[in-house]
Amino acid sequence: TGGPCHGLRGAFLDFVADPFFTDEAASIRYLPDGLLVMDATGHICDFGPYDTLAALYGDIPVEVYRDRLIMPGFIDTHIHFPQIGMMAAYGEQLLEWLNKYTFPTERKFQDPDFAREMADRFLDELLRNGTTTALVFAAVFPQSADAFFAAAQARHLRMIAGKVMMDRNAPDYLCDTPESAYADSKALIEKWHQTDRLLYAVTPRFAITSTPEQLQKAGQLLREYPGVYLHTHLSENVNEVGFVRELFPDCDCYLDTYDQAGLVGEKSVFAHGVQLTDEEFRRLSAARAAIAFCPTSNLFLGSGLFKLEQAKSADHPVKLGLGTDVGAGTSFSLLQTANEAYKVAQLRNQQLSPFKALFLATLGGAQALGLADKIGSFDPGKEADFIVLNPQATPLLTLRNPQPTAKTLADLADLVFSLVIMGDDRAIAATYIMGQKSWPT
Ligand code: GUN
Ligand code: ZN
Repeated sequence: TGGPCHGLRGAFLDFVADPFFTDEAASIRYLPDGLLVMDATGHICDFGPYDTLAALYGDIPVEVYRDRLIMPGFIDTHIHFPQIGMMAAYGEQLLEWLNKYTFPTERKFQDPDFAREMADRFLDELLRNGTTTALVFAAVFPQSADAFFAAAQARHLRMIAGKVMMDRNAPDYLCDTPESAYADSKALIEKWHQTDRLLYAVTPRFAITSTPEQLQKAGQLLREYPGVYLHTHLSENVNEVGFVRELFPDCDCYLDTYDQAGLVGEKSVFAHGVQLTDEEFRRLSAARAAIAFCPTSNLFLGSGLFKLEQAKSADHPVKLGLGTDVGAGTSFSLLQTANEAYKVAQLRNQQLSPFKALFLATLGGAQALGLADKIGSFDPGKEADFIVLNPQATPLLTLRNPQPTAKTLADLADLVFSLVIMGDDRAIAATYIMGQKSWPT
C-alpha cells in the first residue's frame, strides 16, 4: 500500500453510530480542524484533529480547505441510469408513467453506443452532485449494464448495478424470458461482480413485470452467487399493490411474492415501501433486508408518504438508505432528496433532523448496502471517497451562513440543516474518488 502519502486539512463531519438509535451528539464525529491521511492506493490511513496528527505526518503534501465542510461521499441506494433523460415526465402516477414514458425511453438502451454515452453523462451527474456510490438499475438489455459497468470501472467507482429482468406486462421489445434473464445475468455476474470496485445486483423490475418463474430464476442466481445483491421495487403505489394481489393469488402480501422466490435476505434492497403493512416491515426486519426511501419520487408520482418511524422502530428496525429514484425522482442531489425527506416527515407530524438525514445519505446508506466496512465514513482502512461542501455556495446560502465553519454542535446542526434545505449540486465544491479529485475535472 505504500504508507501515508497525502493529506487533506479542513472541517470534517461523519458518523460513528446511527443517530436514530444513539444520542445524536454521540453519533456525530465533527473535527473543525482535522487531518485526513491517505495512502497511494486511495485508502484512509489516519484521521484525527490536525493538532494531534500534524507532527506524525510532517513530510506529506497536505491540501487545505478553508470555510468548507468535508463529508463522506453520498450514497444513492436506488436510481435508474437509463432514465437520466426522462426526468419531469408530466401528469401520471406509477403504472401509467411506466407505460407512457419509461418503457419507450428504456428501449433506446438496446444501442450499446447510446448506452455508453448516457452512462458517462449519468456518472458525471452523480459526481457533480457528490454521489460516489449508487445502486443502479440498468435496462433489460445486457449491453446496457455492460456499458454502465465499463463507464464506472474507468472512473474507479464503487457501483452496484444489474440488468433488469422483466418478462410480462411490458412491451415485447423490453421483455426477456426466465431463461434469457438467468443466462444474461449470470454472464454479467461472472464478468463484473467484484471486478475492481464493482458489484452486481440481480434486478427483477418488480412483481408486476416478472412471472413467478422468472422470480424463481432470480432466486437461483442468488443461491449460486451468495455475494450478489437483490434490487427491486416494493409497494410503491396503491394501484400497483392491487395489481400484484391479482397476479399472485397465492401470496399473502406483496413482500411474499419475493419471499416465495427466496429474494428477501441481507443483500436485498427494496425501493419505496410506501404502502407496506406493519407485518411486512417486521418481515423485512427479520430478514435484515433494506429499504431505499425515495422521497422526491414518492411525491412526484403521488405515491404517498413513507413511514420513517416504522423503518426506524426500536423493536423491528429495517436497514434504510436514501434513493433519488431518478427519473421518477426529481433531483440527482442527495441534499435535495434529504430536503424532501424532511418534508415527508413534516407531513406526518415528525421531524427528520439534519444529522439523521445526512446519516442516511452516508453511513446509513453504506450499512443498508452492507458496505460499511469500505465506505460511508472516515474510519482508517476505508476507501477515500469524500466530498467538499461549500456552505456559502450561493448568494442566499452566504446570507444564511455568514460563519461557514461551525464552532459548536448547535451551530453545526444549523449549518447542515441549511445545506439540506437550500443545497444542491452547487454546494458540492469537489468530489474525491479513492483519494483523487474526480470533480471538478
Ligand atoms: N416500479 C417498476 N419500475 C419502476 C421504475 O422504473 N420507477 C419507479 N419509480 N417505480 C417502478
Ligand atoms: Zn425505481
